[in-house]
Amino acid sequence: MNDMKKLIVANWKMHYGPVKAGGWIRAFRRERLPKELDVAVAVPFVSLAAVRASLGRASIPALAAQDAFWAESGAYTGEIAPSMLAEFGVSACLVGHSERRLHLGETDEMIGKKAVALQKAGISPVICVGETEMQRKRGQANRTVRTQLQAALKGLKGDGRAPVVIAYEPVWAIGSGRPCSPLDAKQMHDVIRPVLTKAFGATSEAIRIIYGGSVDVRNIGEYMTTTGIDGALVGGASLDPRDFGLLCRAAVPS
Ligand code: PGA
Repeated sequence: MNDMKKLIVANWKMHYGPVKAGGWIRAFRRERLPKELDVAVAVPFVSLAAVRASLGRASIPALAAQDAFWAESGAYTGEIAPSMLAEFGVSACLVGHSERRLHLGETDEMIGKKAVALQKAGISPVICVGETEMQRKRGQANRTVRTQLQAALKGLKGDGRAPVVIAYEPVWAIGSGRPCSPLDAKQMHDVIRPVLTKAFGATSEAIRIIYGGSVDVRNIGEYMTTTGIDGALVGGASLDPRDFGLLCRAAVPS
């Protein structure tokens, strides 16, 4: 993935087993995509093989996973090691999505360990951070995001072959049809940027901070033209390959 381009990551969540996943990729391959855009698709583990097979020689969208474990191997029933994903050709992986924090009890510490293990395996960790509605109402949004971020960045490198991506996803905006305004998103990105600079120095400039939460074909353009927003993480609006193709084209107007 090129550091300077905008990045759109599709997050299918728990949708599409191998059959539907293969169909999605074949349909999406017919979409005309802007060259100035990096596109990745984060799919369920069991669909990775079908996606890769349907991609053939195509390298777009890049193959991404939705989670990984932090250990290299061992007695961790049900878990998948980053090196296994790397063997599969996975180049990016979500970590710390709020749905995993909520339903599976993932902590900042676990997320940090996963991010480090992914980077070691050559996979870009897409670290998800974001406040709940209550935290925002109480004026704790900035502090929450800063704390999540600082914990997740421990032990990571700011440069190298697997660049970190930060996804700012306010929990209240995910799947709610109530997106965070581009201005509010920009404000949070402006909170995140100095944390990255402090952690990584000048190399942090190449780290993309993308926004996620009810992004769709109608609002993507506004986010992409807002300074400080380097891309988007797209859930619901990525499920239809043609609509997602439209969204990608709307992200970079020709
Ligand atoms: P959404 O999900 O686009 O459906 O709001 C985004 C995400 O959870 O990554």
